[in-house]
Amino acid sequence: MARIGLLTGGGDCPGLNAVIRAVVRKGINTHGHEFVGFRYGWAGVLAADAMDLTNESTSGILHRGGTILGTSRTNVFKEEGGLERVRASLKKLRLDALIPIGGEDTLGVAGRLAEEGVNVVGVPKTIDNDLAGTDFTFGFQTAVQIATDAIDRLHTTAESHNRVIVVEVMGRHAGWIAAYSGLAGGADVVLVPERPFDIDEVCERLRRRHARGRNFSIVVVAEGATPKDGGLLSEFHETDAFGHARLGGIAIRLEREIEERTGFEARMTILGHVQRGGTPCAYDRVLGSRFGVEAIDAATDGDFGKMVALRGTDIVRVPLAEALAEPKLLDPRFFETVEVFFG
Ligand code: F6P
Repeated sequence: MARIGLLTGGGDCPGLNAVIRAVVRKGINTHGHEFVGFRYGWAGVLAADAMDLTNESTSGILHRGGTILGTSRTNVFKEEGGLERVRASLKKLRLDALIPIGGEDTLGVAGRLAEEGVNVVGVPKTIDNDLAGTDFTFGFQTAVQIATDAIDRLHTTAESHNRVIVVEVMGRHAGWIAAYSGLAGGADVVLVPERPFDIDEVCERLRRRHARGRNFSIVVVAEGATPKDGGLLSEFHETDAFGHARLGGIAIRLEREIEERTGFEARMTILGHVQRGGTPCAYDRVLGSRFGVEAIDAATDGDFGKMVALRGTDIVRVPLAEALAEPKLLDPRFFETVEVFFG
């Protein structure tokens, strides 16, 4: 029997509650462990702010979006005496191990704690699907479905008005959501962070399409996409505790540029946090549950410093350091397939 702490950090993501439920269910029923859940990510660990997690308190949450624990973008190593406060908190709550559920930042903290001898098993989470070491993260399929549903709706209004509609989706370093939803939604242009774009080329492609008798177009752009001749285009200036710029707004610039350069009437839609909210799709509930079960088995085995991951159809354990080395960018061959359907 061990006492284990859970936390969810970074942006929320559909499927987080499935992971929490799975860790607790398997941990109590099979291994006889006890659990606490820290409130608001690493902020809760620093403050020793935790609630007991039981089969009762984690039942009925599988289909719920968000996280019952709350989340934050707190960086332990940016806080005064952060490491000592984490150790003190684990001691106070008599915890043997931590299971942080998060993306590059939350698991980056986990990786550094593991190097300091703290027992951690990470669970990968991001709707952006840009974490290395795992083929997919839960939350991604839900986000892609929401974006695809939106593109379907925008298609009919674009067609009715002979407009170019620019749809901005999430994706800070990687264009996975843009590429998947663009392919699924039949986008005419998809702009991703991995491939800085030339606005002249984008407009030329739209002109050629319209010259062929198509009077409307759909452009899908990832929030982190950049023009070849300029830096990140965002409406905001602030950065978070991990140094990431707050993104959002590139679609506003594109709408204006496309309309001015081509003369085609243009409109933009920023999908934003709609992509992260609400109920997870079945795939993400299943993946989150499988990750949770493997994470508690790894912690029970004392297999620390690992992250659970999906490789093909198998759930495996990979070193946290491997997962954190670099973001997982779009596979160029996949993007070539997306491009087949442009214009
Ligand atoms: O990392 C996931 C993500 O959804 C990014 O795509 C996005 O840039 C970021 O989180 C926005 O997060 P928030 O507005 O909640 O800080």
